[in-house]
Amino acid sequence: MNTLKDKVILITGANRGIGKSLVKAALEKGAAKIYATSRNLNTMPDFADQRVVTLKLDITNNSQLSEVSAITKDVQILINNAGSLNNGTILGGEISGLEYDMRTNYLGTINMMRAFSAILESNAPSKIVNIVSIVAYSPLPTIAGYSASKAALFSATLSARTELAKKGITVHTVNPGAIDTDMNKESDWEMPSPDGIAKIILDQVENGELDIVPDLMGIQMFNAWKEEPSKLAGIFHDIYHGE
Ligand SMILES: NC(=O)c1ccc[n+]([C@@H]2O[C@H](COP(=O)([O-])OP(=O)(O)OC[C@H]3O[C@@H](n4cnc5c(N)ncnc54)[C@H](OP(=O)(O)O)[C@@H]3O)[C@@H](O)[C@H]2O)c1
Repeated sequence: MNTLKDKVILITGANRGIGKSLVKAALEKGAAKIYATSRNLNTMPDFADQRVVTLKLDITNNSQLSEVSAITKDVQILINNAGSLNNGTILGGEISGLEYDMRTNYLGTINMMRAFSAILESNAPSKIVNIVSIVAYSPLPTIAGYSASKAALFSATLSARTELAKKGITVHTVNPGAIDTDMNKESDWEMPSPDGIAKIILDQVENGELDIVPDLMGIQMFNAWKEEPSKLAGIFHDIYHGE
């Protein structure tokens, strides 16, 4: 059991959605300190707990990253949750939307791993937990740029896992299906709450699961992919064509 009790954790995008729920779940797990970061501190909820230290951080902003990493040298668990989603297909979507999601989800998360790998090595055993997505395994065409950015992040996460394996840093991927957050506010699917999902994510991190699929829809999609990758592509084909 890799307990989170008494650990120092940094969580990005902690002001809402899954990030906010991860802060609450980490407090319940008995974390010693949580750096809850967000690009706009005015949007940060009051967690009403002195273990939470709020910090301003846009993961695409290198000077903010340097400032934050200089004052968080005790981090033992880095949770890269921040992410963006622009709707659009590969052929019809705005190129600016594809670029934006790639800059945030792929390059922004790589920035974070680079800024914190030396800190995590000095505090080993330590962890990186990257919130990726089930669409890393197969793209959903309506969110094609986002899917590509998450596939790229999945690849980067697996590379980092190998690169850091002998430095005492365990690297996890988290690949949810659909969770009830602002990111899905246009969807009428039945989705689980981020609070329940955050608890499942942290339970599985504690259990040492490397590749975590925390929700039922995600598990069904992952199982289809595992059986035969074209099966998940088929599910997304049917969703895209409304079949
Ligand atoms: N919801 C789902 O179904 C689902 C499924 C699979 C994966 N995920 C992933 O889960 C993570 C959390 O998503 P969510 O569902 O909680 O969505 P959300 O409610 O839209 O929250 C996204 C969070 O990311 C932050 N963010 C975006 N760009 C940022 C940047 N450049 N620097 C720092 N923070 C930034 C947002 O901050 P602002 O408030 O400042 O915008 C917000 O806190 C994302 O990585 C998402 O891709 C979600």
